Amino acid sequence: MAKPFIAGNWKMNTDAAGAAALASGLANELAGIGSVDVAVCPPFVYLQAVATAIAGSQIKMGAQDIYFEDKGAFTGEISCGMLKDVCCSYVIVGHSERRHVLGETDELINRKLTAAITGGLQPILCVGELLEQREAAQTDAVVAGQVKKGLAGVTPEQMQVVTVAYEPVWAIGTGKTATSQQAQEVHAMIRRLLAELYDESIAGKTRIQYGGSAKPANTAELMANPDVDGLLVGGASLKVADFATMIKTVA
Ligand code: PGA
Repeated sequence: MAKPFIAGNWKMNTDAAGAAALASGLANELAGIGSVDVAVCPPFVYLQAVATAIAGSQIKMGAQDIYFEDKGAFTGEISCGMLKDVCCSYVIVGHSERRHVLGETDELINRKLTAAITGGLQPILCVGELLEQREAAQTDAVVAGQVKKGLAGVTPEQMQVVTVAYEPVWAIGTGKTATSQQAQEVHAMIRRLLAELYDESIAGKTRIQYGGSAKPANTAELMANPDVDGLLVGGASLKVADFATMIKTVA
């Protein structure tokens, strides 16, 4: 199995002091834990401060979004080069809030993912169905479509830096976690799809995170599934004790 990867998505939370405190608190708590890859994804404006707070620790940093152009007249957008400049290693693309609140399309998400890879960042591609899609038995079709469109044009070599995060939209921030079995079923489907799109070896090595109300109490059960390689954590990543407990559980 691939090395577990736990990432915290802080979304539009924290302030300058809180972001630095959260990052340095985690760095202290996690000192010496090397068996899990850990990343935190703060808001853009706190990336620099968080980079300073985690310097020298094994915690890596990701951004929550990226724009696909290198530079120019794109008011409000942030390029791959800028993210690398402030020490980001990862970037989340296609989070459900960007798809459903901000209206991002699969095509835009694919351009962002491609820009991240070619610019040297490791993207976390988020996919997941809405509640009505699950109830209409469309989960596999929706998720498979998002994976295929998100990864369009991505080469086998480039897949080495890609993480896929399955986040059922109805489980995000709602306190409703997918059952361990629901998560495993979709993760296994994604892995089969990656084997079709690439090959078994790439499918086996690609890390597939689960996200959606992951917390200390359900970490062990979710991670016990053969196709759950990590977690993308929202709310519970905002508390040092909770996020550290989750990482220690996996370690
Ligand atoms: P949640 O968010 O853990 O607060 O449900 C997960 C996510 O959106 O990545």
